[in-house]
Amino acid sequence: MNRLQGKKILVGVSGGIAIYKTLTLLSLLNKLGAQTRVVMTAGAGEFVTPLTFQTMSKNRVYMDLFSEEDHFIPHIDLTRWADVFLIAPATANILAKMAHGISDDLLSSTALAAHCPVLVSPAMNVVMYRNPATQENIQVLRNRGIGIIEPESGLLACDEKGEGRMPEAQDLAEVLDHFFSPKDLDGVSLLVTGGPTREMIDPVRFLSNRSSGKQGIAIAREAVKRGGDVTFVHGPLQAPVPKGVKDVPVTSTEDLYLALKDRFEATQALIMAAAPADMTPVQYMDQKMKKGEKVGNFSLALKETTDVLKTLGAEKKGQVLVGFAAETQFVEEYAKKKLKEKNLDFIVANDVSARGAGFAGDTNIVTIFTKEDREDLPLQSKEEVARVIVDRVVLALQEKGIRR
Ligand code: CTP
Repeated sequence: MNRLQGKKILVGVSGGIAIYKTLTLLSLLNKLGAQTRVVMTAGAGEFVTPLTFQTMSKNRVYMDLFSEEDHFIPHIDLTRWADVFLIAPATANILAKMAHGISDDLLSSTALAAHCPVLVSPAMNVVMYRNPATQENIQVLRNRGIGIIEPESGLLACDEKGEGRMPEAQDLAEVLDHFFSPKDLDGVSLLVTGGPTREMIDPVRFLSNRSSGKQGIAIAREAVKRGGDVTFVHGPLQAPVPKGVKDVPVTSTEDLYLALKDRFEATQALIMAAAPADMTPVQYMDQKMKKGEKVGNFSLALKETTDVLKTLGAEKKGQVLVGFAAETQFVEEYAKKKLKEKNLDFIVANDVSARGAGFAGDTNIVTIFTKEDREDLPLQSKEEVARVIVDRVVLALQEKGIRR
């Protein structure tokens, strides 16, 4: 189940062009099972009618400070109802009003009367955003504990370039998911790896594998949401590096080993979702290999790379160590062998030949093995698999007395 299921989200909307993204956000939140209610300013109503918001949120929309409903005081009762109050887009005007306690319409009054946590997503022209007045107002709000969702940088609707763009609906939903995540990795330092490695043959050719890095990305993102201090060491990825990690890109298995070796002692958990190449060319050619005159078969001499996890497993001093086993047969037997040989706390095994499991897709079917037990997980998204893995890491940390 996702974390937004059943959550009550009050969405405040002020008058900025980014408002169209809020419509998509409401649709997304409803699909995720959240309940939404909308408070709009008159300015917002100039861009999009209340009826559109009402349709997207499946609830009536509030614009007036004074209600004719019995026993209902909108600016008080709406935030009493809500688990969180998200203002998106938040214009320079609403930020200024909030910073100075002005309450001359329903949105600003609701912000002043908020019983629940408040998040704002500033969105405006770059000059307005950079103006010291706006920056100081944002700082005032931050100091008061209001969550500020940093605007993105890029081409703005006014054709200027710079910061001021509201994040996309999917990213705002991620912020809310982050908000509702338990912070059970607070203060824990974790190393997460992901993606394939590349073993260079010559300047233009390499050996690699089909890993996309998506499972490692999902684990790193989940660990950040749970409050972890995450270093993400990865090969070339087919999806973006998650926000909030310390990003350490590497190329070869040897690079991966060197990046982890130096950091391993100071870390409390290593989750090794990367698919490092097991073999590397004996010799690297400085210049591109030419076909030459001869037409026929070529052979490439290979040597074994370092087994990173096994090497670090042998040096482990209380860290939680998690490995993966990508198999095409004898999953349990091979996984348990790796669990033992690499000195792991648990191993996440999957049959990469099964439909819906493995490298390139967005879903996975895994079994988690410890020395004593096994847990078979159903086909689910890599995000859901990541959540179970992080739950298990938290448990293992607790068992070792690293977390309470
Ligand atoms: N691993 C590693 N270093 C390597 C190869 C793999 O640290 N050179 C890690 C992987 O990140 C994974 C675990 O070891 O967490 C198992 O990887 P896998 O490719 O399934 O197994 P191998 O140990 O490489 O064994 P085999 O290829 O024979 O299945």
